[in-house]
Amino acid sequence: MQKILDEARAKALAEIAAAADDRALYDLKVKYLGKKGEITEQMKRMRDLSPDARRNFGQLVNEAKEAVEQALEARARGLAENKYARLAESDWLDASLPGIVPPRGHVHPVYAVQRELEEIFTSMGFEILDGPEVETEYNNFEALNIPADHPARDMQDTFWTEDGNLLRTHTSPVQIRGMALRRPPLRLIAPGRVFRYEATDASHENTFWQMEGLMVDRNISVAHLIYFMKSLLREIFKRDMTIRLRPGYFPFVEPGFELDMQCQVCGGAGCSVCKQHGWVELLPCGLVHPNVLSMSQIDPEVYSGFAFGLGLSRLVMMRYGIDDIRHFLSGDLRFVRQFA
Ligand code: PHE
Repeated sequence: MQKILDEARAKALAEIAAAADDRALYDLKVKYLGKKGEITEQMKRMRDLSPDARRNFGQLVNEAKEAVEQALEARARGLAENKYARLAESDWLDASLPGIVPPRGHVHPVYAVQRELEEIFTSMGFEILDGPEVETEYNNFEALNIPADHPARDMQDTFWTEDGNLLRTHTSPVQIRGMALRRPPLRLIAPGRVFRYEATDASHENTFWQMEGLMVDRNISVAHLIYFMKSLLREIFKRDMTIRLRPGYFPFVEPGFELDMQCQVCGGAGCSVCKQHGWVELLPCGLVHPNVLSMSQIDPEVYSGFAFGLGLSRLVMMRYGIDDIRHFLSGDLRFVRQFA
């Protein structure tokens, strides 16, 4: 009897030591200590023994049972430790590694330059004014001295809305809004999107950006206009730019000018952006037409002003050497990411 017990005990300990996982351990526990387990069976045999032998054998069975229980526990602990050791091997964390930097957006190049211009102008006492992209015919044309049958309307092909309004063709209507909102002396700029119904190519888009400027005060002259425009360009390009002034016609200014700057894409040699001229029209400008002041209830005998309409898209192209205006609204991330 004792021999059988010893064998069962030895076999149990060996199998437990070799158990590969918790599942195998559980099966072994049932096999030896369960209701019909091999060691449990030994206990049942005690009733056939004399009282002395029974005490003796009982003690041995109890010892065997305890030994197996301990072995089960030890193996369970061992398995758990192995598991964590393996986890530590495969799943460790090096706190000294650099973290994963989340991707961060940035502003579109047009908006970056717009902000810069806003800085420059607010530092010169200009106020930033906003206007709607859908405008009235009055603000976009009439009040700017462009009556219904005026040929100048053909200069700006227009998207009309069904209810007789329009997508503003320039930021000049914000001049009108500004004069309705403020009395002179006034200085304002109005950056924003404008829309033209026209065929697109490297230098034309149906949607682009302008920035309007308006200053009205007593005794404003062309000298003021030139001063502010030169300061502006010096700030933007960080040096004195080569520019030229040509007479230009816009019904809302008199006299009117076209301020051209040397093409920064080709350096004046001629390319698709400057249409081989070497010069780019950057900034139409002039002194506010007396009719425009009158229509806004400002006395042209007392006040005068200058206005300009900066081609923001074009300026950004010059600034970064972008050779096609259509990139701006292409939605091509490869394009915008270059300005991160
Ligand atoms: N609004 C004109 C345009 O877009 C530009 C302009 C503005 C000209 C201000 C003169 C003065 O064509």
